[in-house]
Amino acid sequence: MNRAIILFLGVLATFISALFGINLIPKLQIDTVRPEGTLLPYGYSELAARGRKIYIREGCLYCHTQQVRPKQDGSDIPRGLGMRQTAVDDYVHDNPIVLGTSRTGPDLMNIGIRQPSDEWHLLHLYNPRIVSQGSVMPSFPWLFKEQVTAADTGVPLKIPDKFMPKNKRPIIPTDEALALVEYLKSLKRDYKVKGVP
Ligand code: HEC
Repeated sequence: MNRAIILFLGVLATFISALFGINLIPKLQIDTVRPEGTLLPYGYSELAARGRKIYIREGCLYCHTQQVRPKQDGSDIPRGLGMRQTAVDDYVHDNPIVLGTSRTGPDLMNIGIRQPSDEWHLLHLYNPRIVSQGSVMPSFPWLFKEQVTAADTGVPLKIPDKFMPKNKRPIIPTDEALALVEYLKSLKRDYKVKGVP
């Protein structure tokens, strides 16, 4: 009987320490984090928030991370992927957080600083080879459509001849492409965070 009580107390202690260690204490630590610097206090703009959903839907996160490593842990900062390592503050508006798991392509946490041009992003999404020779990134042509009638409004992309579809019809971005680009441009973590070098 005595041993059963010890076993029960042991199990109870394990559960309680797990509850505190991986639930309550991290929650208390993270609850006090507030948006810093240029992060909008209310989160992403409506358009960028829509773009974020498309980023997740299209699986961009399988090839791209959104986390800059500390200086001593790799070459992220010398390579210009960010001015500092990322901190918990950078993700306050992200749900779910899309840290990513592998870097087939470069980290995108600061792509809005490296590449602020709408035109570049649109061409790159339509066909990465247009702006990045030999790129192995897949094209996302379903985020664009051919301009057929006057009802298809939009600014046609300036696509070099050899990348144009055979029928040579102008290509315009869909609302989804524009939203995704807005999200990519919003990825900039250039403000200071307390305690992060
Ligand atoms: C199969 C892997 C793969 C997928 C999926 C993928 N990418 Fe890429 N991406 C790459 C590679 C490789 C590069 C580097 C070559 C280049 O610039 O095209 C790259 C480069 C980029 C760049 C330029 C980064 C820089 O630092 O210049 C952006 C922006 C980008 N990808 C956005 C996206 C978005 C948005 C999606 C989803 C719609 C996506 N990628 C999906 C592999 C991928």
